[in-house]
Amino acid sequence: MGKPKFQVLHRIYTENSMSNEEKNRLLDTLNRKMADACTCELKKTATHAVPGIGSADARLLFIGEAPGKKEDETGEPFVGAAGKFLNEMLASISLNRSDIYITNVVKYRPPNNRDPLPEEVAACWPWLRAQVELINPEIIILLGRHALERFVPGKRISVEHGQAFRRTVPDLGTYVFFALYHPAAALYNGSMRETLLQDFQKIPKVLALLEKEKQGA
Ligand code: URA
Repeated sequence: MGKPKFQVLHRIYTENSMSNEEKNRLLDTLNRKMADACTCELKKTATHAVPGIGSADARLLFIGEAPGKKEDETGEPFVGAAGKFLNEMLASISLNRSDIYITNVVKYRPPNNRDPLPEEVAACWPWLRAQVELINPEIIILLGRHALERFVPGKRISVEHGQAFRRTVPDLGTYVFFALYHPAAALYNGSMRETLLQDFQKIPKVLALLEKEKQGA
């Protein structure tokens, strides 16, 4: 499938250093278009599309797996227990939801919260790709194994978590990634929770390293 037209458009805008306001407006348009035009079969059983929320100008883009029950009811990602835990972790590094952008690999709730199927991930990919390209974050934070698998196939979250790496993703380009255990998986698992909390504290350090790199230090 070719790139949606607005992807070409947003490149033109970003090259002309689009204002935050324009960037947010374009992201809203993209998300509304997604809710209308996405071909994912999950749309048939979902209540709402859950495109994503936050700032189009965010330095950090968090990508989870799929909306759950609460997200399907509200149309917002990470509003349940895992979202509350994520908010606490963000606060621990002096950030809140408006500082980041957060979305999922699939934009509709899978029935009974089952794992998303490869064809559902594929159907939602053009929209996720467009979000990544428009936001152009400094770090893409992959929450859990499904997000990791979409961007870096064949890797294990138990090995990759807590490490930053730069990777060229086919059909997307080169980005810095940082993988974390999924907050829902870690919520009630003592050792995974401890690891996630520790990994989360590395995020400001990775941002600082990237800043240094930018300045040629
Ligand atoms: N888990 C996810 O991966 N995404 C959500 O939006 C909520 C829970």
